[in-house]
Amino acid sequence: MNIVLTERLRTAAELVRSSRKTVDVGTDHGYLPAFLVMNGVTDRVTAADIGKGPLENAEKTIKKYALEGKIDTCLSDGLMEISPDTEEIIICGMGGTLIAEILGKAEWIKHEEIHLVLQPMTHSYDVRKFLCENGFYIDTEKFCTDTGRDYVVISAYYDGKDHSRDDFYYYFGNQATGETESEKGYIKRQIFYVKSRFDGLMMSGKAEDAAVFGKVLEGIGKWSELL
Ligand SMILES: C[S@@+](CC[C@H](N)C(=O)[O-])C[C@H]1O[C@@H](n2cnc3c(N)ncnc32)[C@H](O)[C@@H]1O
Repeated sequence: MNIVLTERLRTAAELVRSSRKTVDVGTDHGYLPAFLVMNGVTDRVTAADIGKGPLENAEKTIKKYALEGKIDTCLSDGLMEISPDTEEIIICGMGGTLIAEILGKAEWIKHEEIHLVLQPMTHSYDVRKFLCENGFYIDTEKFCTDTGRDYVVISAYYDGKDHSRDDFYYYFGNQATGETESEKGYIKRQIFYVKSRFDGLMMSGKAEDAAVFGKVLEGIGKWSELL
């Protein structure tokens, strides 16, 4: 018996290092922890969620696949109740603003041994900006398409250095080439967002505020063919 993940969660699972103490924050049904254990990636996972209902769902999954002893559950607002000896931190399926907020409240994650796997549904800008301005670097980004929508999954580590970049990087990262359909879709979505912010501000006569978005649009170069 195995568990079939959505393409989005499967892409995140591919980035998880093996044999590490792992947490899945915002686990809901606990499918990702179950998949990781059933596929031999780790046998020490905490399925964490802020809601009791989602944790009950996760407990049902653990029972259904007989994974007791390998997955525990934890009622936790973000990383607040998570043990600091955790080495793999996964946060999927939340907005990027919330992901950045959760990371910002847990000082203990600033450690070279800790690896982050982050899959923002929206506002990936906020995730990249938080990471780069708080001593983390992004080593890998993977793109996927799930139920018609394109997503990025971000892998990052801490080294304490200042990795601050410009807004263009925070919107697009530096790994999307536009060669796959998922990358194309992701880039297009980001361009539409920046363009709509630019147009909205211009229409409200806020040319100075719009200039920030205009500068990002200047950088899109050959990607404008995607539109
Ligand atoms: C849309 S579900 C995502 C489930 C799964 N991670 C996925 O990607 O398919 C979001 C989950 O995050 C949980 N959540 C929201 N805010 C949270 C927080 N601050 N800390 C922990 N969990 C949170 C919700 O209760 C919900 O179960």
